[in-house]
This record gives sequence, C-alpha cells and structure tokens, in this order.
Amino acid sequence: LNYNVNRERRYILQVLFNGLRRLEYRGYDSAGISIDNDFSFSRDPSTSQSSFSPSLSPPPLVFRQEGNIESLVRSVYQDVAATELNLEESFSIHAGIAHTRWATHGEPAPRNSHPQTSGPGNDFLVVHNGVITNYEVLKETLVRHGFTFESETDTEVIPKLAKFVFDKANEEGDRTVTFSQVVLEVMRHLEGAYALIFKSRHYPNELIACKRGSPLLLGVKELNEDVCGGSAFHDAKFLSKNGNPKELFLSSDANALIEHTKKVLVIEDGEVVHLKEGCVSILKFDNDKGRNGANLSRPASVQRALSILEMEVEQINKGKYEHYMQKEIHEQPESLTTTMRGRLIRGGSCKAKAVLLGGLKDHLKTIRRSRRIVFIGCGTSYNAALAARPVLEELSGVPVTMEIASDLLDRQGPIYREDTAVFVSQSGETADTLRALEYALENGALCVGITNTVGSVIARNTHCGIHINAGCEIGVASTKAYTSQIAVMAMLALAIGGDTISNQERREAIIDGLFDLPNKIREVLKLDQEMKDLAKLLIAEQSLLVFGRGYNFATALEGALKVKEVALMHSEGILAGEMKHGPLALVDENLPIVVIATRDACFSKQQSVIQQLHARKGRLIVMCSKGDAASVCSGGACRVIEVPQVEDCLQPVVNIVPLQLLAYHLTVLRGYNVDQPRNLAKSVTTQ
Ligand code: G6P
Repeated sequence: LNYNVNRERRYILQVLFNGLRRLEYRGYDSAGISIDNDFSFSRDPSTSQSSFSPSLSPPPLVFRQEGNIESLVRSVYQDVAATELNLEESFSIHAGIAHTRWATHGEPAPRNSHPQTSGPGNDFLVVHNGVITNYEVLKETLVRHGFTFESETDTEVIPKLAKFVFDKANEEGDRTVTFSQVVLEVMRHLEGAYALIFKSRHYPNELIACKRGSPLLLGVKELNEDVCGGSAFHDAKFLSKNGNPKELFLSSDANALIEHTKKVLVIEDGEVVHLKEGCVSILKFDNDKGRNGANLSRPASVQRALSILEMEVEQINKGKYEHYMQKEIHEQPESLTTTMRGRLIRGGSCKAKAVLLGGLKDHLKTIRRSRRIVFIGCGTSYNAALAARPVLEELSGVPVTMEIASDLLDRQGPIYREDTAVFVSQSGETADTLRALEYALENGALCVGITNTVGSVIARNTHCGIHINAGCEIGVASTKAYTSQIAVMAMLALAIGGDTISNQERREAIIDGLFDLPNKIREVLKLDQEMKDLAKLLIAEQSLLVFGRGYNFATALEGALKVKEVALMHSEGILAGEMKHGPLALVDENLPIVVIATRDACFSKQQSVIQQLHARKGRLIVMCSKGDAASVCSGGACRVIEVPQVEDCLQPVVNIVPLQLLAYHLTVLRGYNVDQPRNLAKSVTTQ
C-alpha cells in the first residue's frame, strides 16, 4: 500500500488488515505488518526499545504474530495502546506492507513471520511469496560479513542482502544509490520463485516490488476517478502525469484489491515496480545481462497498460453462507453456467450442436495429431482431469495419460515434441504444476492451460488454453472449480473429437447434457439435509472408504480427498476393480464404505462389488441413480444416496456434490475450520 493523500494511521491499518483477511486463505499460520512510525518517536521492534533518531527517518514499525490475522490485529491494537501510538495521526504519504504466511522454512512463530528485517533499525523490510532456493549460500556469505540471523526462513537473506548492498554502495561513496538499484542488485543474487515487496527506512514513502515466478498485481485507485476513466496508460511513469491523489496497492491476488479498484497491472517476471509518492515506474531486470556485467543502473523502463478486473466484491464475500466452501458448493449451478456461457451451440434448424473454444482455435489440429495427450496437475485438479480422461479418449481417439506434476518431475518422465501437455490448475500458480510446465516447454510439447485465474503464470506461459470461469474460489478445499474443470474438459473432448458422423449422436447427447447440468446440480443440492444427517452418523468415525470405477474412480478419489482435507478424517478413494487386491481385507461391520454405483457401463460390475461387500457384512452407503435404490440394496442393509442420472461422462459432476456436502457437514459437526483446514493452503506456491 502506498498513497499520497492525507490518511490516518487507523485507515492505513484497516486497509492492510482487510487486505490480509482477503488473502488469508493462501496461508494462515502467522502474519505481520509494517507501517511508518511518526516522525518524532521511534521504536526498535526487535528490542522493543524506544529511541530518538534525528538524522534518519525513524525505523518503520513492525508487528509480527503467530496465528491468524485476527491475532495480529489484536496484538497491534494492544501494542498501539501500550506505546500510545496515535491512531489519528495522519500521513500525506505512507508506505505500508503486510503478509500472511504459510510456513515452509521454520515453524509458525513471530521471528519467522514476515516482514523479515535486515536487523535492528529495520533498514530494509521484505514480504515474500515463494521460495528462495539458494538462501543457504547467501546466508553463509552474509554471516561472514557479520550479519546475524534470527529466523529459519529463506526470506531473511533478502532484507539483509539489501542492507549489505546499500551499505557497500555508501561505503564506496555512492550516496545516490536508489532504492531500485539496491533491489536490482539483490535480485541478481536470488534464485527460486518470488514476489517481493521492499520497504526501507532509507527510502521513506517508497516501496519496491519485484517478481519472478510468483504472481503480483498492482492496483491503481485514483481518487478523482474521471481522469483515469478506465483507459490504458502507456508511459512507465504514467501516474505522475495528472498529479491526482492516488492509492496504489500491490498484492499476490486480486481479492485484496477488488474493494479498492478494478484497475490493475499484472506485473511480469523480472519487472521491478517502484512506487513513490503516488507515482509508479517500472523497470525490466534482465538477469542474463546483469550476470554478464551490463549496467544495472540503467535497466530499460517498461511501457505497460492497465487492465480492468472482471470480478465483483460480492464474489469474494460469503453472502448468506457461513463458510466459503458452503457458498462455493451451492453456487455450482451458476458457476457451471458461466463456465459454459458462449461456448456451446444449442443447435436448431440450421445450426448443428457444437462447441466453441476460442482459446484453442488455432491449435485444435495439432492437438488432434498429437501422439498422446498428457494431463498434468495436483490435488483436485488432477482428479478433475482423471474424471475427464475416459471421454477424451473416447472422442479423440488419442491416448491420454495422467501425471501428478510432482511425480512427473521426480521421474523426469518422458515428454515429447509430439505430445500435447494439458496443465490443469485452479490457481494457475501451483509450484509443481508450473515446474512441470517449464519442463514440458523445454521438451517441445504443445502446452495447453486450463485455469480459473486469468493472467496467472500457467495461463500466460502455455501456448493456448481455456479459462474455466468458475469465479473466485476461496475455500481451500476446491469444489466449484472441480466441477467446472470437468465441464471444460468435456468440452475439450468434444472440440478435439470434431464433427465426425460416427460420433454425432453421442456428441449431441453430451452437449444436451452440458446444457442441463446446472439444473441437475440444483436437484442434487437438495440432498443437503440428507448429507448433514449422514454426517451426524459418521461424526465419530476414524475412517471412510469410497469405492468407484470408470467415470467415477475420480469421484471416489475426490470425495475421499474432501473428507480428508477438511473433516480431518482418514479417507481413501479406491478403484473398485482393485477391491480384491487388498481393500477387501479392511471390510467389516464397522468401517463405513461409500460405493458409487450410478448407471453407466460399469453398473453391473458395481452391483457385484456391492454383493461382495454385503457378503462381508460391509457397512455400506450406496450412491445410485434415482429409482435404483431397491435394486442396489437387494443383498443387504445399506443407506442410499439417490442422484439424478445424466450422460455418463458428466455423471462425475453430479456425483461429487453429495460428497462435497458430506465433507462440509462432517467438518462443521466435528468442529474444524472449513475454509482453513489444518496445515493446508489454497495456492501451493512452493515445491
Ligand atoms: C492445493 C489446494 C487444492 C488444490 C491443489 C492444486 O492442494 O489445497 O485445493 O486442488 O492445491 O491447486 P491448483 O490451483 O493447481 O488447482
């Protein structure tokens, strides 16, 4: 946050805290904030000593706290009260930073929270999203130069390196070294992924941000809006032109900006953004040139245009729901409608039923001719691809293989020029998926992105792709993105399959099925109370198995994943065809087992599975198509979940909903945090 209009400290804190609340779903084990001190009083946060420093502006204040944002808020207000800092004090220019953390290096603790500092005096402060891979080497060097480290984080080397660079320049007599120059020099030494924001006591009222691999957005709020009018700016120093009071925001995520402005700039890798007194300038850092000794003091300035965010504040509020996960489960009829909007042609007297995927139009031929299609993703995104694989194989005739991103990287599995690699990621920024994308690009494959985040790294670095347009998903456990991903991949199968006569009937049935999906989801959402009742029965269980096969093997994996990640109950998705090769040994009259046995080509095989489980006195909960309850339970007692039947390849979209509801209610009843499950984060930006 940086602005040049009179604002009270109260307001500054509020903006930063609200921003953190909007980002909390990305990490929530500790948090921190740094704001400007007033100009008569300074306090060293590392020693809690007060001191007066006439020559230098006072050190910025730093507050860091273990726990969620509200713990930080409490500690700041208590601290503010204790030190009698004036909340009403106003600043005509202020630069503040804040961070919410998901621990990677070092346990959740104040010393490991961000902002990380260069040491007593807070000469340089840094908040960081990502991981610095060469931090140990940097740390050793800095220790040799007399720096002492207080945290176990990789981030701490960054502010210390900045101080080292700044001090060295000053020792060498360069008293004109700019903040950007310091940061450019720091960047030259960093390896890994990062989005960084720097604040410094030596450069009051300025912030520097830079990034490589992790997302970063700049939001621009002009307080006399008419001057900007949503138009594009083409000068690197665009904001200094009209001199309006402005507030400038930097964030990893549009969620934190949307309540202030829709005007954003997506910062690109290697760019260094300098905010000073309401003005912005952007420089491009060329790492190679830097290493070859090119003149870093004059990197190229960059011309960029603002874009307008297509989201509304309401999308990131819970509305009438108690939790984001609940809201996102219930808004699936709408999110699916948006996913399909403009992409399906209903057909009629003169038009054939068809699918239009604009983002792929120049690449469909290449995809059809590829030697194989490889789906790559993590977690729920991987499961969605697995759900879509059968229809893709069926309609395209191209072999489809599946890769969990980390496993592909661990094995350095073969990827060829003739492959189409499809990267599925809600966030578009999962570290393993990104690395796998780099790997596939190096190997020459055609890379297709399927993401929910316009402007995300995966969206930008793939050759072509499809946005799922499910709207912002905040609950850490993915729900609406999953169903939209399957819908998109079914459309992908249709698009690749083309308009062959032999497939026409099937193609039209799938298109009709897609049109009708939102209604079917509305119908299945009516099972809410029933799933709550089931959750009450299962509340004290240790474990839950979910059996599926064919189109619904993915449903078994995804249903079990939901229960595991939010309800913190052991749960396993099992391929029913493998039942006799191990899982059957677990079956007794106590262990609850969900069997998915909706109508499709595997129905009779699943009936046989149910019989065999009955024979072992299994405690069964069977999910079946409407009207099949009596037949699926003919061999013994079982509880039934009846769902509407849809085209077989779309059935996973319907079938997952009751399991999402079950996981949700189990979590609430067991007293766990639905939206922030223990140890998990929404966007896993570290490997
Ligand atoms: C994390 C999230 C999951 C998500 C997975 C992949 O594990 O908690 O909900 O499915 O990352 O994320 P992506 O954004 O790549 O789909």
